Amino acid sequence: MKKYLFVPILLSFFILSSLNQPEDNTNKIVQEGTITNLYDAFGKDTTLTPDFGFSCITKYKGKTILFDAGSNADIFKRNMLQLGIDLTQVDMVVLSHGHFDHLNGIDYVLQVNPNVKIYFPYDIFWGAPVPFDATGQEADVKDSLPKYMQYFNGGNTKFLIKQSGRFWNANIEFVKGSKEILPGLFLIATSSQYMGYFSCYPGKSFVEGQFEQDADHCKNTNLPELSLAMKTDKGEVLIAGCSHTGIENIVNETMKTTGNNIELLYGGFHLLPFDRPQTLRIVQLLRQDLKIHRVAPAHCTGHLAFKILKDTFQGDYVYAGLGETISY
Ligand SMILES: [Fe+2]
Repeated sequence: MKKYLFVPILLSFFILSSLNQPEDNTNKIVQEGTITNLYDAFGKDTTLTPDFGFSCITKYKGKTILFDAGSNADIFKRNMLQLGIDLTQVDMVVLSHGHFDHLNGIDYVLQVNPNVKIYFPYDIFWGAPVPFDATGQEADVKDSLPKYMQYFNGGNTKFLIKQSGRFWNANIEFVKGSKEILPGLFLIATSSQYMGYFSCYPGKSFVEGQFEQDADHCKNTNLPELSLAMKTDKGEVLIAGCSHTGIENIVNETMKTTGNNIELLYGGFHLLPFDRPQTLRIVQLLRQDLKIHRVAPAHCTGHLAFKILKDTFQGDYVYAGLGETISY
């Protein structure tokens, strides 16, 4: 008798234990043709930790793409576990630029997926090879010195420094120009003249006890930035990280590179510093001149721009707070 009872008890045990198994949420969340906001300071899901920064994930033609990784690796990790995102499934990472609020979660990404392909702007301050001229002033002085005082024992003084950088041992590519990396998948490269790395050394003229500033010696390298464009039947789906280049410039570069209109503009538009007239002007430009169909603003877009974009785009405004998944 006991033998006959044993089978249903065992079956019930297996059924109950399978119900208790944690679900594999990955395939539910990263669906083809969707974007999920993984890191932001606003959202509806109170189980997630809000923080100022940005990250999102999408799946395009079977490839899972992580775009940016937020400000804090601990918060990023916590939200990934809460959302059930399995970062080992990520095929490639696109990092928009070298600011902390888009970058630091990469430490967690590389811990769980150390060989993942990373695309990064060509930014020498984060590891891109540095073209360098070490000849210095009065070029003929070099040859007057003994070889052991000359750089590289008298070798070439114009060279490329292949530094290890922030992403030592990572599978990283520093991207200089816009390009198609897979059919229909484009990296859009722009640079901000407002930000970057300014260096200024004493000029050549020494006037009244002071070096005069000389334009040749004062340079802004501009901040390089990457955005991601995905071709769809309805137009490009464009993800921008922080738009330091100017969101309108990123849109223009995307239209020029892809030859396509913008169906959906997603991410940080960086309108936070702008007042109402400036914001109205840019929003009108996006809607009327650049003919953006839908907008899904996040991150550094700002409260005022959220409001103006919502009023302008109305039904074509897509809410995309932390944890939200939208379709394209
Ligand atoms: Fe940002």
